[in-house]
Amino acid sequence: MSPKKTFISPVNLTVVDHPLVLHKLTLMRDKHTPSAVFRQLLHEISHLLAYEVCRDLPMTTQTIETPLAEMEAPILKGKKLVIVSVLRAGNGLLEGMLSLIPSARVGHIGLYRNPETLQPVEYYLKVPEDIAERRTIVVDPMLATGNSVSAAVKRLKEKGAKDLRLVTLLSAPEGIMHFHEEHPEVPIYTAAVDSHLNSHGYIVPGLGDAGDRMFGTK
Ligand code: URA
Repeated sequence: MSPKKTFISPVNLTVVDHPLVLHKLTLMRDKHTPSAVFRQLLHEISHLLAYEVCRDLPMTTQTIETPLAEMEAPILKGKKLVIVSVLRAGNGLLEGMLSLIPSARVGHIGLYRNPETLQPVEYYLKVPEDIAERRTIVVDPMLATGNSVSAAVKRLKEKGAKDLRLVTLLSAPEGIMHFHEEHPEVPIYTAAVDSHLNSHGYIVPGLGDAGDRMFGTK
C-alpha cells in the first residue's frame, strides 16, 4: 500500500535543500555509513542549517577603522542566541552550530519517547536564566511524531522563551503538522520532508534512529 499523501502548509517551514545538504544527507541515510562518518556529516550539515536559521538575525553598524579608512561596518545587533539541544540526538546538531556561533549559550532538555504511547517523558531541563531575552534555536535532528519537540518547546515557553526557531535534519509531514498545531508561530528549518511515519513512529525512508546512528548504540 502506498503511503498516505499529506498536505503540508508551507507557512513557517523552510526546506534547506541546498545541493551540499542533500548530498551529505544521502550519505547519512545510507545504512552502511559508519557512526564516525555519520557524526561528521551531521556536524557539516548543521553549519549549513545554522547559516539559514541565522539569515534574519538583526544587524546594526559599528564604526571601525580598516588599515585604509574609517567605515560603518555591519555587525550583529545585541540580541543573543541560545541553542537548546533535545537530548540525546540534538547534541549532534548542537556541536556543529556551536562551532559556527561559539558565543551562543546552550540549553539541554531531555525527553524520551514512551515506546508504547510514543508520548514524551521529561527527565532533564537546564536552560540559561535569561532565555527570555535571547533568540532560542531548538535542535532535534528528527521531527517524527512531533510529540517530543512540541513538549520541549512548551516547556521552554514556560521558562520564558519567546523568540523560537526549530532546526531539524529530517521531518515527517505528520510531525510538521502536529508541531504547527501546537506552535504555529515557531518557524521550522529542515533539510528534507520525507514520505511518512511507520507504525513505530520512525520516519520513512528516513535514516533510522539518529541517536543510535550517531553513537553506535545499536
Ligand atoms: N527518531 C529517530 O531517531 N528516527 C526516526 O525515524 C524517528 C524518530
